Amino acid sequence: MLTVHTVAELRQQLAAWRAVGERIAFAPTMGNLHAGHIDLIHAAKTHAPRVVASVFVNPLQFGPKEDFGRYPRTLPDDQQKLAAAGCDLLFAPGVEEMYPHGLPLTTEVKVSKVSEGLEGEFRPGHFEGVATVVNVLFNLVQPDVALFGEKDWQQLAVITRMVRDLHLPIGIIGVPTRRETSGLAMSSRNQYLAVDERHTASVIHATLVTIAHEIQQGSRDYIGLEQAGMQALSAHGFAPQYVAIRTPDLQPPANENKNLVILIAALLGNTRLIDNLRVSLG
Ligand code: PAJ
Repeated sequence: MLTVHTVAELRQQLAAWRAVGERIAFAPTMGNLHAGHIDLIHAAKTHAPRVVASVFVNPLQFGPKEDFGRYPRTLPDDQQKLAAAGCDLLFAPGVEEMYPHGLPLTTEVKVSKVSEGLEGEFRPGHFEGVATVVNVLFNLVQPDVALFGEKDWQQLAVITRMVRDLHLPIGIIGVPTRRETSGLAMSSRNQYLAVDERHTASVIHATLVTIAHEIQQGSRDYIGLEQAGMQALSAHGFAPQYVAIRTPDLQPPANENKNLVILIAALLGNTRLIDNLRVSLG
């Protein structure tokens, strides 16, 4: 696997592949890779002969009180994992390489509606930062397909919508959430958890499963289920931010909706965790 840190080197390598007509699959990340990220690389390999990953901790998508400064940066380890998974090219730029004209950027990508509520409510500006950096990365890599984890359901919805609205010729593929055996969704932020918190953290998935079960048993009192979920999380020591039952494109569900997503965000100590679970009826 080749690692490049500059746009010029990236373009040079990509041009060589395109010249011989090779398709490119792309998985953007912020590094500190775990098995969930590696699933994206494995999925990418089924879509194109050339796989490109990026590792870039994007300052635009972090709020002023969030963990940009302490976000784990583990490039040598990430390189090893990507190479072992069969990634062909890693783009790992610095902030100056990505944003050479300084911050804040004058051009921003905002995907309204789908970015509002849920993460958009608790992380103002987050999805503008995500949509903007992903758009920059898409312009640089110009992949045929790009892979995103279902773990970040709203992010996947925002990117899918952005690609559709801007007519970007890129197929967006969602990859199922990789979990620990406890049910805890893998996340780079899990390492902020103390040992006892890590144990408690699995209650998020358990709460999702309980709500999904209630819906499958016929309950349609979505507001009551959301409230019960908030209470269950609080009882286990979380500070829950939302428990929401939505359609896959994040609209409030009506009784006839057969496909739903349950989404949770909660703080455990200082660590913010998110997860979701899909429910299919009938
Ligand atoms: P990051 O949190 O590093 O995640 C990179 C990709 O891995 C995202 O598509 C995310 O949904 C996926 N992912 C994370 N945990 C996963 C899990 N347990 N199972 C499956 N996939 C998982 O998401 C970002 O970075 C950034 O916002 C980014 C898109 C790179 C833009 O900066």
